[in-house]
Amino acid sequence: MAVKDFLSDHEYDGIREYDNPTPGWWHAIFIATIFFSFFYFVYWEMNPNASSPQSRWAAAQTREYKRLFGALGDLQPDEATILKMMGNEQMLNVAQGFFQSTCTQCHAKDGGGNVGVNLTDEHYKNVKKLDDLYNVITNGANAGVMPSWKNQFNQNERVILAAYVASLRGTKPASAKAPEGDPIPPWPAAK
Ligand code: HEC
Repeated sequence: MAVKDFLSDHEYDGIREYDNPTPGWWHAIFIATIFFSFFYFVYWEMNPNASSPQSRWAAAQTREYKRLFGALGDLQPDEATILKMMGNEQMLNVAQGFFQSTCTQCHAKDGGGNVGVNLTDEHYKNVKKLDDLYNVITNGANAGVMPSWKNQFNQNERVILAAYVASLRGTKPASAKAPEGDPIPPWPAAK
């Protein structure tokens, strides 16, 4: 084809331009993206079942808990197990997450206490030995002022919560509520 075949037929001040239409494949891709965006929008923006980064993160977190608990098996709510969990940093971190989301409104972020008792001092109202912590968390105390957490947390979760609460003993909270109850002997040493 001669060059003149590509020239458009208008002319301004002696300037003429080539006619170079965008190729067919380019148009095809352009139209395909418009078409794609419609389905993309409907699926991700209007479909309640589409996953989000948040929901995928939550699912991954749940899988990870299951994996960790699965590796531990069923935790018995006895002294030996609670002691063992007090030495398991990973489980203490998981339990701290539970504590921060559920217990701080009454026991404060660092266990110093406000509505609930101070969990960091040497005095306890309902606890004489380590597994009493589990019993209070499971059944509540003082006619439900300290609620029962049986339905919110499964046995493994309550065992590691007991270990976490036990680990708060002897820490220094920002604002400590005055001691309530009686002083009790130190937790037994880890075996
Ligand atoms: C609605 C307020 C409230 C919430 C929420 C709460 N507690 Fe308590 N908790 C209390 C009160 C009040 C007491 C003291 C009960 C008493 O007077 O015998 C207490 C006592 C306790 C005790 C026994 C301490 C002792 O000296 O006998 C433990 C252990 C405990 N709570 C752990 C927890 C954990 C773990 C959570 C979260 C899963 C939690 N609490 C959530 C109010 C609360």
